[in-house]
Amino acid sequence: MFGASGDLTKRKLFPALYALAFRGLLPEGFAVVGVARTEQSTRAFVSAMRNAVKEYARDPYRSDVFESLAGGVRYVATDFSDEHGEDRVRDALEELDETRGCAGNRLHYLAVPPQAFGKVISEVGERRNRNGWSRVIVEKPFGHDLTSARRLSAIVKEWFTEDEVFRIDHYLGKETVQNLMALRFANGIFEPIWNRQLVDHVQITVAETIGVEGRAGYYEQAGAIRDIFQNHLLQLLALTAMEPPIDFTADAVRNEKVKVLRAMHTPGPKSVVRGQYGRGWVEGEEVPGYREEVGVDPRSLTETYIAAKLFVDNWRWADTPFYVRAGKRLARRETTIAIQFKRAPHPPFEAIAGEGLRPNVLLIHVQPDEGVSLAVGAKVPGAGMSIRTVHMDFLYGGAFREGVPEAYERLILDAMLGDATLFTREDEVEEQWKLVDAMVGAWGRDRPSFPDYAAGTWGPARADELLERDGRSWRRH
Ligand code: BG6
Repeated sequence: MFGASGDLTKRKLFPALYALAFRGLLPEGFAVVGVARTEQSTRAFVSAMRNAVKEYARDPYRSDVFESLAGGVRYVATDFSDEHGEDRVRDALEELDETRGCAGNRLHYLAVPPQAFGKVISEVGERRNRNGWSRVIVEKPFGHDLTSARRLSAIVKEWFTEDEVFRIDHYLGKETVQNLMALRFANGIFEPIWNRQLVDHVQITVAETIGVEGRAGYYEQAGAIRDIFQNHLLQLLALTAMEPPIDFTADAVRNEKVKVLRAMHTPGPKSVVRGQYGRGWVEGEEVPGYREEVGVDPRSLTETYIAAKLFVDNWRWADTPFYVRAGKRLARRETTIAIQFKRAPHPPFEAIAGEGLRPNVLLIHVQPDEGVSLAVGAKVPGAGMSIRTVHMDFLYGGAFREGVPEAYERLILDAMLGDATLFTREDEVEEQWKLVDAMVGAWGRDRPSFPDYAAGTWGPARADELLERDGRSWRRH
């Protein structure tokens, strides 16, 4: 694990490994070499990981489980100026091959900043082990735009083939996101109605209550468009809009997703809204504006919110808008995909049902409160014929006893098994960047007047206008 002293290792990766160990899902002899700049001993690293597991793992702490994992952990402190660092990493790996019987199989996890990426890949590639398999997991961001993403791909390709590269978009590891495919393709009733004939529009929301969380250095360069829209949001859209794959293998699924991405045309400037949060109240707490966050330029023009109206130009979806939005410091944490169906062609009750009669919506709650719900009109009991919208709900918590695993558990396990279905392929990443580059290019020299929404609200007013112009509105919460 490169970048082992970072936040991701502590909050997500090690707790995920622990959850896998807890369920006996790690192979015997599984071992980890943590590599990072921080000077510390293996013992100190293990102790930091113990604390991380206690704080962030979804399972209770069991010392036997942790100690069996810790037995295979080594830590190597090194940086790029250290000529012998690579030798020490190799020695640690070889020692583990011998003592734990790892047979030379290596999964290199790159949780390093983008500027370190090329160097680490080259060093790993140069020394790649020829006995056993060798794979790389690459964390986002994969580049800053199409050109830099292609440059990174070229470096990766010098050493690794596409089936050895696992580009993480952790949203694909989320249980509910995979369930979107189950819902669509394991049930006969949805496919016939999943198209422009019956769907009025789709809304995808990735709303967060958190701010930049000490990541200003990265976020100032990325903004909402590169942080969430380019990857998580477009992947959710691709999974929603894709054609049924012929099977659930990596290439079959990714072939269908990439077709959706290719079919999307660049939204014009009127179809994109950027925003940035100012001071406000989130979950009962007063929070600073984005420009007041540590490390943020007080005149920053980085967007912390983006909304767009997108179209997928193919037979299934032509003229059906996909309204998407993502933002930080919004009123509530919520990721949802809402499929809004057209109104019934001739509801005989309209005159008397009044406000209560709304179109059907299939709502996929990605998080929190994972589940699916279908809004349907029902008769209010009693005399007369008033209709009100009610919800048919499926909640994970109620339907399954097993808790919902963390995305990283599934993804690390899949990478070990060599299954890339839930990872993004090079051509997908490129299509995603093409769209983003075109959108950012269109912003040109525009100087938006930021901040334009208060923390703790649902984003800038212009985002509401984006839908109002079409006679629609964002789903109310
Ligand atoms: C990451 C972004 O990819 O996803 C973060 O860099 C964001 O800014 C996070 O907070 C959201 O992930 P999740 O799983 O909490 O929805």
